[in-house]
Amino acid sequence: MKNLHKPVKKAVFPVAGLGTRLLPATKVMPKEMLTIVDRPLIQLAVEEAREAGIEEFIFVTSDGKEALMQHFQDAPALMENLQSRKKLDQIAKINKVDLPASALKSVKQDQPLGLGHAVWCAKDLVGDEPFAVILADDTVLGEESCLKQMMTAYTKTGGNVIASCEVPMEDTSKYGVFKLADRDGNIFSVSGLVEKPDPSVAPSNMTIFGRYILQPEIFAYLDKHETGAGGEIQLTDAMAKLINDQPFYGYVFEGERLDCGSELGFVKAQIAFALKKPHLAPEIISYMSAKLKESIL
Ligand code: UTP
Repeated sequence: MKNLHKPVKKAVFPVAGLGTRLLPATKVMPKEMLTIVDRPLIQLAVEEAREAGIEEFIFVTSDGKEALMQHFQDAPALMENLQSRKKLDQIAKINKVDLPASALKSVKQDQPLGLGHAVWCAKDLVGDEPFAVILADDTVLGEESCLKQMMTAYTKTGGNVIASCEVPMEDTSKYGVFKLADRDGNIFSVSGLVEKPDPSVAPSNMTIFGRYILQPEIFAYLDKHETGAGGEIQLTDAMAKLINDQPFYGYVFEGERLDCGSELGFVKAQIAFALKKPHLAPEIISYMSAKLKESIL
């Protein structure tokens, strides 16, 4: 019997999408390089993975997204400049971002054929072990990072664990949706998955959020390159098939979900993250109070 409790040490970051909802901002700039207050989305995602114990970071990139890798690599000229000016705080910030060259891997997705295809592109780098997938434009604000919470759940359940959050029933057609079996606290067993169902046929209002812990057997289904909703190769469709072979769980994480791939979510994230910064919060609160008064009057 296969061990479905092996530790998760690798994370895949699919960053090859077109980011059309945020055009024109994403015309040249990769969506995952857009910044929430002081850190690009990809840095928030990598920090989350590190906090959860990930040791190898696999980026699925495309042409024009070189900045994403460069953000985590040495910047000798910048460091020299900061050192000559004794900018110690800034040096510390840069040191925190850098990843050892051996920990950072990348693979190209030649065309944006869908999330399932992007994950499939990482197959050889992942090998025969469980791995995490993090969508950098889905961010969570909370006490403990979403992936870390999921890792704790995984030590109990093993198998496959997908982050989940509740949405209003009328919004199910925007997300992958779970069909639930048993629920025990934050963890539920999954008996089915449907990509973007109409509310009239949605099996629940519990949706898939962009954090996954998957067993490598998922690649057997992604190998088939079958297209689904929107003509894309969907990760949800491959997972829906793997449910028949392996245990699958949803994990309802603690924290606020912020969809930074949409205009509204991106603006909300700026406010929510800024309010967590003691040097910014008081001024932001008084600015927002003034703006609220203006809009009410
Ligand atoms: P999205 O569904 O947000 O797609 O992808 P997108 O292309 O980035 O954005 P929109 O919908 O056009 O605005 C979720 C994540 O999966 C990656 C994206 O880069 C994003 O991080 N992705 C998506 C790929 O890497 N390749 C794909 O073919 C599709």
